[in-house]
Amino acid sequence: MLYQNILFDQEAGVATITFNRPDKLNALSHEMLSEFKDAVARVRQDPEVRVLLLTGAGRSFIAGADIKVFLDFDPLAARAFAASAHETGFALEALEIPVIACVNGFALGGGLEMAMACDFIYAADTARLGQPEINLGIIPGFGGTQRLARLVGKGAAKEMVLTGRLVNAAEAKALGLVAQVFPTDTFMAECLKVARSLAAKGRVSLRAAKQAIDRGFDLDLKNACLLEVDAFALCFASPDAHEGARAFLEKRQPNFL
Ligand code: COA
Repeated sequence: MLYQNILFDQEAGVATITFNRPDKLNALSHEMLSEFKDAVARVRQDPEVRVLLLTGAGRSFIAGADIKVFLDFDPLAARAFAASAHETGFALEALEIPVIACVNGFALGGGLEMAMACDFIYAADTARLGQPEINLGIIPGFGGTQRLARLVGKGAAKEMVLTGRLVNAAEAKALGLVAQVFPTDTFMAECLKVARSLAAKGRVSLRAAKQAIDRGFDLDLKNACLLEVDAFALCFASPDAHEGARAFLEKRQPNFL
């Protein structure tokens, strides 16, 4: 597929998808959504990709669904659009590699919802995040009512979703929505630094860690810990586990597969 609304770059195991309609603050149109979905499938099929970054061109990550498309919506069209976005969110979550949302500016509505489907969010210090749908007479439809509550708790999620207010990067970090905040000037360089360090870690241990947290999250503690035991044991199916221990004892950097 030829991309006109996103950019796709790949270098040294790090793939970057950049939402690219800067004049519309990267509002999520049907076309952008289908290109994004295609790019996520491409990442899933490419064993060379070890880390995925999402970011936006210009001063926005994604400023929400393209509000223009709402004018033509009836309930069936709205349902299809939201269901398609959910498929993409689930596809992102199902990737076995780490996925980082690099929120360079506005992450609003569907933008914040896509970011929350990533493993974690980094934000530029000038970023603003929120679920402002209530101000349009609608509610979040791409997972916002569910993932936001799971990330920041029910009360804080309700306060954001019901008021529609935007939070800045510092508040988002205090809420636990954002993992780290970096200065805007060096933002992508900082994100790439982390991505490269993740790309140098063991594939099996990264995958086991991600899956243990994701799959265990909705289980009771005992079953979740049993799942962790299996994931821990799986790490020893890779030579990386012995290499990691050996490298530590030999006081050198490990060479993971
Ligand atoms: N859908 C469609 N177009 C959008 C958009 C969206 N979600 N968000 C921004 N745009 C467009 C604007 O219409 C404008 O286009 P134009 O230049 O052709 O008029 C362009 O992007 C720039 O936006 P503008 O509003 O002029 O920038 P700003 O700096 O004054 O304000 C925001 C930035 C993000 C506060 C404001 O654009 C906004 O509130 N956007 C909508 C956010 C939203 O409700 N998202 C949830 C949608 S479900």
